[in-house]
Amino acid sequence: MLPPLGSVPQAGCGRGLGLAIARAFAVIGGMLPHPPLKEHYATNEAKPAFVNELFNKGAVHYDGIVDWGFLRSGSFYRRWVQKRHGLAPGQHVLDVACGTGLVAVEAAKILGSAENITCLDPSEGMLSVARQKLPATFVLGRAESLPFPDNRFDFLTMGYALRHVLVLEDAFREYLRVLKPGGKVLILEVTKPSSRFGRFLFGLYFGRIYPFLTGLFTRSRDAKAMMRYYWETMDACVPPESVLAALRAVGFAKVERVTQLGLFSEYVAVKG
Ligand SMILES: C[S@@+](CC[C@H](N)C(=O)[O-])C[C@H]1O[C@@H](n2cnc3c(N)ncnc32)[C@H](O)[C@@H]1O
Repeated sequence: MLPPLGSVPQAGCGRGLGLAIARAFAVIGGMLPHPPLKEHYATNEAKPAFVNELFNKGAVHYDGIVDWGFLRSGSFYRRWVQKRHGLAPGQHVLDVACGTGLVAVEAAKILGSAENITCLDPSEGMLSVARQKLPATFVLGRAESLPFPDNRFDFLTMGYALRHVLVLEDAFREYLRVLKPGGKVLILEVTKPSSRFGRFLFGLYFGRIYPFLTGLFTRSRDAKAMMRYYWETMDACVPPESVLAALRAVGFAKVERVTQLGLFSEYVAVKG
């Protein structure tokens, strides 16, 4: 099941977190993506309500912020990564944490239609933006409790939302359940670079410049708070090795992490 607590790798989490913090990530039956961020919510159980409000309020700004913040590379990258990991016409796709539909829109281009795409998200605000973009099936729900039958999808994506689930294994168990045998999960994340200088630049951009510019361009406190939280969760997140361990722990096969530019992580795994 879980790796021994004392051996949880620390690379990627920064700040030299020790065994005590590693223990804080682990709960009975699973791994927290990050410890509760006490300045926002006291306990892990209070996290969903906070996160939902954050995305409901920031939804109208999300696409614009992501567009300039990643130098307009987002659409190309989301299409390229799905194609590279095997998304092909005829497949049934579930996009978990679809948000405003950025991953699903690119999946539809590869599939040739949105007919076989299901998009799930707990934020009505994010879903209402996504609904205007593509005629997929939209479902209000959470990764940890998917309202779908077993063995339903060929390909399951989750873009930049892993940090928001409560317990990694709870979400991954659901992914395994709803995928068909041979089906693939693709999880996209931005993760801290391994070099000290890389981490410095990463923190400078995502921790300071990006939230500041977001506030300046949108004139919205909600949008700025969303991007500030984006950084805080990246800063506090478990290392990639823990994500891989959690995928293996629930029974996924061929678990691997591919990185681009040292900071875009693509976690892939197959239901055996
Ligand atoms: C940063 S957005 C990502 C949107 C989109 N996937 C993308 O590629 O840009 C994170 C999304 O995760 C959703 N989310 C938060 N908690 C979730 C959960 N437990 N299960 C599924 N989605 C969740 C939020 O509502 C939000 O829409």
